[in-house]
Amino acid sequence: MKTVVSGIRSTGNLHLGNYYGALRNFIRMQHENRCFFFIADYHSLTTHPNPKDLYPNVKNVLTEYLAAGLDPEVSTIFIQSDVPEVTELYLMLNMHAYLGELSKTVSFKEKARKQPENVNAGLLTYPTLMAADILLHNPDEVPVGKDQEQHLEMTRRFARRFNNFYGVEYFKEPVAYSDGTQMIKVPGLDGSGKMGKSEGNCIYLIDDAKTIQKKVMRALTDQGPTEPNSVKPDYIENLFTIMQIVSAPETVAFFDEKWNTCEIRYGDMKKQLAADIIEAVNPIRERILEINANPAILHKAVTLGKEKARESAGKTIREVREIMGFRNF
Ligand code: TYM
Repeated sequence: MKTVVSGIRSTGNLHLGNYYGALRNFIRMQHENRCFFFIADYHSLTTHPNPKDLYPNVKNVLTEYLAAGLDPEVSTIFIQSDVPEVTELYLMLNMHAYLGELSKTVSFKEKARKQPENVNAGLLTYPTLMAADILLHNPDEVPVGKDQEQHLEMTRRFARRFNNFYGVEYFKEPVAYSDGTQMIKVPGLDGSGKMGKSEGNCIYLIDDAKTIQKKVMRALTDQGPTEPNSVKPDYIENLFTIMQIVSAPETVAFFDEKWNTCEIRYGDMKKQLAADIIEAVNPIRERILEINANPAILHKAVTLGKEKARESAGKTIREVREIMGFRNF
């Protein structure tokens, strides 16, 4: 049985990118693997250090995890800050992480550009905290979307470096898990490369049918192609990519053919796309509303998750301390 670890930052509600890039894989994997899925609330502090938002954001993500189908009896579902062992491993890994490599990380450079007034050390060491999250449970696989590829590569590098430095074969080098062979990237509805909370181009799992329709119908399009079989501009390609993710292959083939013969009607395509997204999202939305009406479910889930996660984390920390030379008096 493989061990699997993954997480999502608690910086707001979950969107289609989180769902198709990561969460859906969590749900599929949970029955065949030993899974740890957590809510990265420490990570959220690198960009959202607002005490008023912290708890509601964690609560939303937890609710959405459960509503989407994660089962706390089957997987270990926990909140990052409920397992303080991660901060110790983070500190230890930071001793072997170098300024040069951390400052070159794409996500660091992006965030530093976006929030020049708050380029904090937590942003710089974001990849070591993520590596600590993962290595704390020594997994084989990490289901994440394509945007996390570099962080995962760094995690492998930190694991390898630790093993080499201390002359042990302790940490495994975990690989990405994605549905199919390629890691998924869900594009934004605004023609940009990635659907993301900070990009403001998301469809959320909590969005109702009307909201989804409105967002999809507003997506950028143009007059349509004038030459048969032309290359699609990015904003049109994005709509097709989302359609490939949520719709049946025949639906995509139908509109692709219409594109190639210059007969495409974007209104029809968007209507279909909105209907398919609603069909995927609506059952989750309904369960979110049910859980909101019964918050005891959340308490039960995280209490159980914390206990299981701390057991696994405690073992790793004891062994890592031993390897590094810590001894009791
Ligand atoms: P976060 O919170 O930005 O996103 C959570 C998961 O959703 C995926 N994702 C996407 N996948 C495809 N298309 C998109 N547009 C899209 N947007 C988001 C992400 O790839 C991710 O899998 N650093 C992580 C959180 C984290 C973590 C970890 C993940 C902290 N520690 C340990 C795995 C293991 C992050 O910011 O993801």
